Amino acid sequence: METQYWRLDGTASDQAAIAAAAALIKTGGVVAFPTETVYGLGANGLDAAAVGKIFAAKGRPADNPLILHVASLAQAKALVREIDGNAERLMQAFWPGPLTLVLKKTDGIPDCVTAGLDTVAVRWPDHPVAQALIQVAGVPIAAPSANLSGRPSPTDAQDVLADMSGLIDGVLDGGRAQVGVESTVVDCTGPTPVVLRPGGITLEALEAEVGVVELDPALSGDKTITPKAPGMKYRHYAPKAPLWVVEGAHAPERLLEMVNKQLLSGRRVGALVSIETAERLPEGVITFVYGSRGDAAALAEALYRLLRAFDRTPANWLVAEGVGEAGMGLAVMNRLRKAAGWQIIRT
Ligand code: TXA
Ligand code: MG
Repeated sequence: METQYWRLDGTASDQAAIAAAAALIKTGGVVAFPTETVYGLGANGLDAAAVGKIFAAKGRPADNPLILHVASLAQAKALVREIDGNAERLMQAFWPGPLTLVLKKTDGIPDCVTAGLDTVAVRWPDHPVAQALIQVAGVPIAAPSANLSGRPSPTDAQDVLADMSGLIDGVLDGGRAQVGVESTVVDCTGPTPVVLRPGGITLEALEAEVGVVELDPALSGDKTITPKAPGMKYRHYAPKAPLWVVEGAHAPERLLEMVNKQLLSGRRVGALVSIETAERLPEGVITFVYGSRGDAAALAEALYRLLRAFDRTPANWLVAEGVGEAGMGLAVMNRLRKAAGWQIIRT
């Protein structure tokens, strides 16, 4: 299959590209598109055969449900049976934006979208291209992140093409995704909202709107607890070389010790670190810098891009400097610890 590629530049010519992509979606095709979080792999969410092509292209397990993307409250409301006060407040506060709500689904949503669950995940993305595509297609768009299953989510069109070229009908290139990690998934089917996946809307921001918010206990990394978001049980985001995460107040010193030891034993060392730590690293380390020490939003923006970049270097031992769990830190440390297969050094 030849994958069509449209570069968008914010001018009137974008409309023709979006119309062509929407026409592919309406006729059962699969098109990757930018959102504010990561790129999505979209198909008509009401067409089971089209949704099946997403699972095939990604190699995604059939038990992992998809998010339906909408471009209005009315379109969201048609997909769900009831919206309680908490869900209503979260929609008002954070849509359009990096928040996905899990709600009871209406009939007419194909079982393959929801993996047979009686709930559906819905999100209104805050990105002009995503919104235009959904509007012109005129249907909710089912879209997981546009990576091969198990790879880091793509944050630009080049990373989409690296995984998906030849496997999908087209890619809309809208530049780099701003947030860099996926949306926050919140289950609103019970009395208290539960975060199933931390993401672009912080826990603090959710609590400011609705008071008490729970975290799915599986987010602790305890392997004996099954996550409520089926996708959270899979190993994700992993680079090819083994990765260690160093966290806590003395992370820079400990990381430097570890790097020196690995260099002495002849390893090709790669490091994902703050500017401050980068300045202290010895010669010969393949270094990627995320931003100032502790800047969780900067690490979120850079994380997937740099995990993919390590795979294009000869590094065969990787280390990353962690950040605290406040704000965006909760989401970014969830992804980083998973990418490391829970090889964590706490200092
Ligand atoms: O930012 C995002 O959310 C991106 C962009 C493209 O919108 N999408 C994304 O989709 O990350 P995906 O498929 O990679 O992750 C969706 C997550 C998975 O962990 C999935 O198991 C969970 O949401 N999920 C979907 N429907 C669910 C449901 N009904 N109940 C519980 N979890 C659900
Ligand atoms: Mg994904």
